[in-house]
Amino acid sequence: MQWEPKMATGIAKIDAQHKELIRRINKLLDAMKEGQGREMVGEVLEFLGRYVVEHFADEEALMKRYGYPKYPEHKAIHDRFKKEFEALAADNGKRAGSLSLTLQVQNKVVDWLRKHIMNVDVKMAAQLKEKGAA
Ligand SMILES: [Fe+2]
Repeated sequence: MQWEPKMATGIAKIDAQHKELIRRINKLLDAMKEGQGREMVGEVLEFLGRYVVEHFADEEALMKRYGYPKYPEHKAIHDRFKKEFEALAADNGKRAGSLSLTLQVQNKVVDWLRKHIMNVDVKMAAQLKEKGAA
């Protein structure tokens, strides 16, 4: 997964976190591709999961701070993703290194994140910047 200019929100902290997320997702994809064991993949999954939680919390704090009107919807999207990610991580415990886990990461994490950043976060950031976020 690659960071693309279309993903730029213009808010430094968010952009830095998105880049870090992509870096960690690539680590996970590499671990799975190299046929790393369940334990290693599990560790990378956990690491990524914790980062996702922190990043969403930071975005949500920013939305609240600037009184973003679509905060409830955006928060609900984050919460849904966190649940799906947890289910996916739990699945690793049963089917380590399986093609299905790799496909799930591609479809549910990579594709989701790319679309979420470009369609949801970029719009959110544009409004927050109007209110003074940088
Ligand atoms: Fe978001």
